[in-house]
Parts: sequence; structure tokens; C-alpha cells
Amino acid sequence: MNTLRIDKILKTSKIGDQIIARGWVRTFRANRFVALNDGSTIKNLQCVLDFESLDKKMLKSITTGAALKIEGILTESIGSGQNIELQVKKLNVIGICDPEIYPIQPKKHSLEFLREKAHLRIRTNTIAAVMRVRSNLAISIHQFFSQKNFFYIHSPIITSNDAEGAGDLFRVTTLELENLPQNNIGKVDFEKDFFGNPTHLTVSGQLQAEIYAQGLGNVYTFGPTFRAENSNTARHLAEFWMIEPEMAFHDLNDNIQLAEEFIRWVLRDTLENSEADLAFLNDRFEAEERQKPKNQRSEFNLIDRIKFIINHDFERISYDQAIRILQNSKPNKKNKFKYPITGWGIDLQSEHERFLVEKHFKKPVVIYDYPKSIKAFYMRMNPDDKTVAAMDVLFPGIGEIVGGSQREERIDYLRKRINELNISAKELWWYLELRQFGSVPHSGFGLGFERLVQFVTGMNNIRDVIPFPRTPQNASF
Ligand code: 4AD
Ligand code: MG
Repeated sequence: MNTLRIDKILKTSKIGDQIIARGWVRTFRANRFVALNDGSTIKNLQCVLDFESLDKKMLKSITTGAALKIEGILTESIGSGQNIELQVKKLNVIGICDPEIYPIQPKKHSLEFLREKAHLRIRTNTIAAVMRVRSNLAISIHQFFSQKNFFYIHSPIITSNDAEGAGDLFRVTTLELENLPQNNIGKVDFEKDFFGNPTHLTVSGQLQAEIYAQGLGNVYTFGPTFRAENSNTARHLAEFWMIEPEMAFHDLNDNIQLAEEFIRWVLRDTLENSEADLAFLNDRFEAEERQKPKNQRSEFNLIDRIKFIINHDFERISYDQAIRILQNSKPNKKNKFKYPITGWGIDLQSEHERFLVEKHFKKPVVIYDYPKSIKAFYMRMNPDDKTVAAMDVLFPGIGEIVGGSQREERIDYLRKRINELNISAKELWWYLELRQFGSVPHSGFGLGFERLVQFVTGMNNIRDVIPFPRTPQNASF
């Protein structure tokens, strides 16, 4: 007899097939109907028990959350909600579950409550749907780059470089914190540390990807990145996954082009691969929207929002244009922005980004050519000497989803910039050296994976789209 996953049973099995299914009880009704879920699909397998023939003690242990192994015959279902059901011939309770203390009851739990039960929340429809979509998205991403002949490189997790210069680093050390060795000027003696110099968890794989692009041509990284920024928002994690393609002989336009193509391709693929989960998440999204005041509701449902992105070009505007639009916008004139637009040079806040995307253009927006003062040291200086060849992609409901740039490939410009920013040229010797040995124009970007998963699944809080979120004051599980 075949042991099959429920997804397979529902898709390919036939009436009369004898099969074995294993999973966890979602509900048990009328001493007769077990809704069994094994995680392979959002759908449950309805299993029908013959009450008379079952051991009464065993019957008692069929409770929500219990793990079962069931042998039976597939029959046509007369009940609504499914076409096929399993007539149970043999049933084993593999793992009991005390219904008095099991936190995941067959009712709606708040996402906040479920975050505290991160070891059990994967047994809920919502989190399981999100995590299956997340998995499919990750695979689509690899497929996109693979069919474009990009090479997947593994950039280091531990590093001594600060790619973004943001300063929000998680130190990595084997030194005893209670007993730090000091050098002769009274500072911590990192020569005694494991690596012989200060190290931390990486904030980005970009600098290493740049090295590999200038040898392999087109590469990408897809790995965890770490930022100790103390932002307790629904869009920030201390540990998040980033996809960072890096391409030799690509300028900023090629870079924007690739970012658009990439996002569209992955979204299209996911609509196909995750149909059932997205249908479930779409219902959930619509129900959530109905709770909101009319003027705050999304114009689209979840699936139409994804389709809209697939079918429309992104709007491309320069930072100059963005500032002008924002300056003349209603919320700015009426003092509705928390951070008023005071003039050229300011950094855009999420409220500004979302205004441009959701209210002004009503589609994704790419902003390019930002002031150098608000961007990282490695971005290529524009001829105006004021702006750099940067680009951010902004998404509805999310704000910034991609940040990228053309890189400074000219050694004299790079040296000047490093000096201006007081960055140690000594530590970046290899990065500078690359600009001496066959340096070519090159570009890349970083897409925040969780922000993409948020967009696709419609989850409001980034903590619900990663299995075990790390945020300030929280690294449990
Ligand atoms: O704009 P960022 O900081 O760019 C870089 O790190 C570049 N090195 C990328 C590159 O050019 N190769 O980050 C890129 C993206 C952001 O647009 C955002 O989607 C995501 O990473 N991101 C975060 N996601 C979750 N939590 C955080 N704390 C994030 N910080 C950035
Ligand atoms: Mg950014």
C-alpha cells in the first residue's frame, strides 16, 4: 500500500485506491470526521471513521493536534468541501496531544499570540501557507538566475568589512566579555581575538559578489544578512535574507531593467506554483481589508495586486523629480507627513515612498540618482558631482524592496569618496585593488527576501513571513 502525501492524494489518486496517509488532526467532528493535514497543502484530507468498529480508548486520543497514521480506501465524498475522502480501515495514533493544554485550537488565533508559539504556529493554515509560498519563491529566484546563466556564489557570513557603512553591526568574538585583553593604548586587543581583528556578521554580500562578478561575469548571492538597527517596525528584521545579483559590464539602466524583469518573473512563477495557498491568503487579505475604514482599503485584492505588478512597467523617476512631486503634494502642504519635505538632499522616509507608490503613481516606482550624502561609499559618482548612480525600487504596502547602484569602478573617484567619508583605505585595500586590475563598469542590487514574501502573501508584519524572526529583545526559538 502506498504512503502518500495529501497534496498528491488530492491531485492524482483515484476512487478505490488503497492508501496510507499521515498527518496531524485539524478537527474531529461527530466522532466520525477527521480533517487531517500533513503540511503538503493547505487542504485537509477528510477521513471517515466507523465509530462502532473503533477502540473507544483510541477514539478519545483523536484530538486536535494529535498525529495519526491512517490506512483506508478513497471514496467519493458526498459532503460539501471535498470530492474525495478516506474511508478509514486502520488507524494508529502516533503522537497524542492533550487538548486541555494544546495552544492551537481550531479557531482564529491572533498573529501576535502565534509569534509566542513559534514552535507550533506552523500548524496553522496561515503560517503554513506563507511558509510554502516562501519556499516556492526562493526556488523561483534560483531558477530565474539559473536560466539567465548567473552563478550562485556563497558570500561569507563572518566578515571584517562594513559594506553599507551603516554601523549597525553584530560583533563576532571569542574574547571573554568579562575579561577583555587590552593593548598598550588601553583599547581592546583584537589581535588576541579568534580572527586577529574585529569581525562581525555581514550586512551584505555585495563587496564579495563584486569580486566574483569581475571574474565570472554575472553572479548572485542569496543568504542571511544581519543588521543591529534598533528599528522595531513591521518591515525590519535583525536577521533577514537578501538576494544580491552583481553584473560586470552593466550600467544603472541595465541594473534597473534586470530588477524589473526579475521581480516580474518571480511573481508570475509564484502565481502558478502557489495557486492554492495564494487563493487562501487572498481570502484572508480580503477579510482583513474589510476591517479597515473604506478610505484605507487597498484598491486590489492580493492576487490582482500581484497581477498588476506583472502587467505594468514600473515608473522611473529621478530623486530630483521625486522631491519636486513630494514638495508639491497635498500631505506635504497640509503638514500631514511626520517628516516634512524640507528640500533637496533629505533622505526619503517610508511615508514618502508609500505616497509616491500608492497615491501618486499607483504602481511600483524606481527612484534613481540620489544625493551622494545619503548613499553608500561604493556608488558611482554622476557627472554633476552631487548625485550617485543609485536606484531604489518602491512597492505598494512595503516601501523600499530593492536597493542597488552602479558601482564606482574608477580608482581615483573611489579613493576620494573613501577619504571624504573617513573610511579606512587600509582595510579596503583589495576593493581598491580590483579597480586597478581590469576594472569594468558593474552594477547590482539587493532585494529583501522577506519584504518580497510580505508583498506576495499580504502579511502586514515581517515577523510572520520568516520562520523564526530576530528583532530587538527577541531571539527565542
Ligand atoms: O538598501 P540596502 O541596505 O542595500 C544593500 O545592502 C546593498 N548592498 C545591496 C546591493 O546593492 N547589493 O538593502 C537592500 C534591501 C532593502 O531594499 C530591503 O528590501 C532589505 O534589503 N532590507 C531589509 N529587510 C528586512 N529587514 C531589514 N532590517 C532590512 N534592511 C534592508
Ligand atoms: Mg536601501
